[in-house]
Amino acid sequence: MSKYQSVRGTRDLLPDLKGRFRYIEQTAFQCAQNYGFKEIETPIFEFSDVFHRSLGETSDAVSKETYTFTDRGGESITLRPEGTAGVVRAYISEGLAQHNPNKLYYYGPMFRYERPQKGRYRQFYQIGVEVLGMENALTDVECLDLAWTFLKKINLADKCTLEINTLGDQESREKYREALVKYLTPLKTQLSEDSQKRLEKNPLRILDSKDENDKKLVQSAPKMDEYLSEASKKFFADVLAGLDTLKIPYKINPKLVRGLDYYCHTVFEFVTTELGAQGAVLAGGRYDGLAETLGGTKTPGVGWASGVDRLAELTLIKNIEMPQAEKPIAFISLGDKAVLKSVQLASQLRQTGTSCEIFMTGNFKKKMEKANKLGVEKAILIFEQDDGSLEIKIKNFTTGEETVTTEEAVKCQATKL
Ligand code: HAM
Repeated sequence: MSKYQSVRGTRDLLPDLKGRFRYIEQTAFQCAQNYGFKEIETPIFEFSDVFHRSLGETSDAVSKETYTFTDRGGESITLRPEGTAGVVRAYISEGLAQHNPNKLYYYGPMFRYERPQKGRYRQFYQIGVEVLGMENALTDVECLDLAWTFLKKINLADKCTLEINTLGDQESREKYREALVKYLTPLKTQLSEDSQKRLEKNPLRILDSKDENDKKLVQSAPKMDEYLSEASKKFFADVLAGLDTLKIPYKINPKLVRGLDYYCHTVFEFVTTELGAQGAVLAGGRYDGLAETLGGTKTPGVGWASGVDRLAELTLIKNIEMPQAEKPIAFISLGDKAVLKSVQLASQLRQTGTSCEIFMTGNFKKKMEKANKLGVEKAILIFEQDDGSLEIKIKNFTTGEETVTTEEAVKCQATKL
């Protein structure tokens, strides 16, 4: 076996799979544009601080999963593990605040050194949207509506459940944090190793621990909603009322806290049971404090990102058909001069936007079989006669009918073929 294989956790997106990716990306772009979002592209790597400050030192994404290296100039650089931090960094460094609200979408590879398994890769692809400069709860609803429309368009909405929760404003979160630490401290030695570490730095994360014993321990923990300020309660109620009005189904999950530190108020995940442990296909929330953390002025923000690898996987599991590309016109010819003519005619048709496939190798029968296999509907057959002249026919693969035609007719009637 060759030594050179793709690195663990990365994969080659071969044409069939890439076709699914492309369809999902393009559908998302179309939906985002319909909702008034504009595309942004930020670099794949940033100064490490951009991620360390925004996602939080204790988040898994930063503490265990970043691809960080020192470049030749001695700078600490990190391959982006997600898109939000880079977009907010760009918002600040490019002075985008003057265009508020900024409604942005992006697509691209992200990198996390996670344990690879189905639906979890070290290089994976996200489509994301971010709204900067809007503190209205209905902006969260608009983002969720965009997510819902997108999932409906790719026929996956009914395979997912929207789980939603609120973390409240900073004050509510602080109060809750204290109450949680007070409850969990006497139980510390019974917690898993990871949760023991989180108890001091990021206790809220203990709520979504996957450890069975942790799960039991948090069952009787204080509940976030008991600590929400009136303003936070109203904000969440407004989001839910908006979802009700738009008839977007959801389930409140009080244990949903999300892994990245920047969230406040609304947090949500669209989850599926079809992908084993990697159930979240689209996730996000509000991050009103992030711009300030990165040295900008206070700017409310909300958005989400969706894992295209997982969506593509789901379309495969659910046998969701991709829209078929238009079938090409086949060129099948016999004799050197005829093959050359087929290359010339196909080139002319392709320039008018008609898709053509030239079958160059094999005998006539083989070429016909290949065209049939490709599912073509029409073929141009070109035969070189004994006297050197060319006979041209159009074959309708559905009826089997063959009609003699001319070179000029083929060129002129590309669309009527
Ligand atoms: P996240 O939950 O870390 O949030 O990732 C969003 C989505 O990316 C996940 O729900 C999942 O579909 C996909 N994903 C994450 N890690 C992997 C992986 N290793 N392999 C395959 N897919 C993966 C964020 O990244 C936030 N920036 C979302 C956001 C935007 N919040 C506000 N704005």
